[in-house]
Amino acid sequence: MSVTLEKIERLRAMKGRDPIPALTAADFPMARLLDECGIPIILVGDSLGMVTLGYPNTTLVTMADIQHHVRAVARAKPNALIIADLPYKTYETPEQAVQNARALIDSGAEAVKAEGGRAILPQVKAIVAAGIPFCGHLGMLPQSVLIEGGYKIKGKQDAERLALIEDAISLSNAGAFAIVLELVTPPVAKEITERAAAPTIGIGSGPDCDGQILVTLDLVGMFPWFTPRFVKPKMNGAEQMRGAIGEWKNTLPRRVTT
Ligand code: KIV
Repeated sequence: MSVTLEKIERLRAMKGRDPIPALTAADFPMARLLDECGIPIILVGDSLGMVTLGYPNTTLVTMADIQHHVRAVARAKPNALIIADLPYKTYETPEQAVQNARALIDSGAEAVKAEGGRAILPQVKAIVAAGIPFCGHLGMLPQSVLIEGGYKIKGKQDAERLALIEDAISLSNAGAFAIVLELVTPPVAKEITERAAAPTIGIGSGPDCDGQILVTLDLVGMFPWFTPRFVKPKMNGAEQMRGAIGEWKNTLPRRVTT
């Protein structure tokens, strides 16, 4: 069995047993640090468009952006599984999805993630048939922010709940090895976790998922200009950096000119 499939089998075995921690990385030092902490999933997510590249949302992220950051993360040779996001409008057809998924694997990713359920099932099936491990992403889909007019919680109405459950089961049956649930109401996230065979990885979806994922810069307080409501930063990295830089600046030797 390949190293990647071994990693995926270990993750699958964690469902319903040990919580699965997952975090994002966009560069070499972050990937090394996460790996040193024993994080089993590193996501090169398109949120890097906002927190690393300064775009207003993820729809501007390109394949070239993700490939550049995947290469940096892969150079850390982490034990963690490297998942890369397929950017907005790069998986419109099964052929395009496979071609771009392959390009991410060639850049150093071991699996790809894309947003959507039954709407992208032909693409998911084609990616899996091409032998590329696939992670689903349901609930609030950041790549749909312009269509939806904001980042809205999903699963409040019964029709939405049923659609999410159906999407999750379809993705799982199509071979998704895990499913990210973003901003899904906690009872619905719990129900999906109980009913889908694939492990669920929640973000802002309550405690009853098989794992949890966060944008690492949010967790360590390094993107202080906006923190999602569901994140409780574990340190104030920005403040510590401001302090360290200010201290260094104030100790610079003065040049005395005669
Ligand atoms: O892009 C990203 O970082 C993500 C996670 C927040 C789930 O998709």
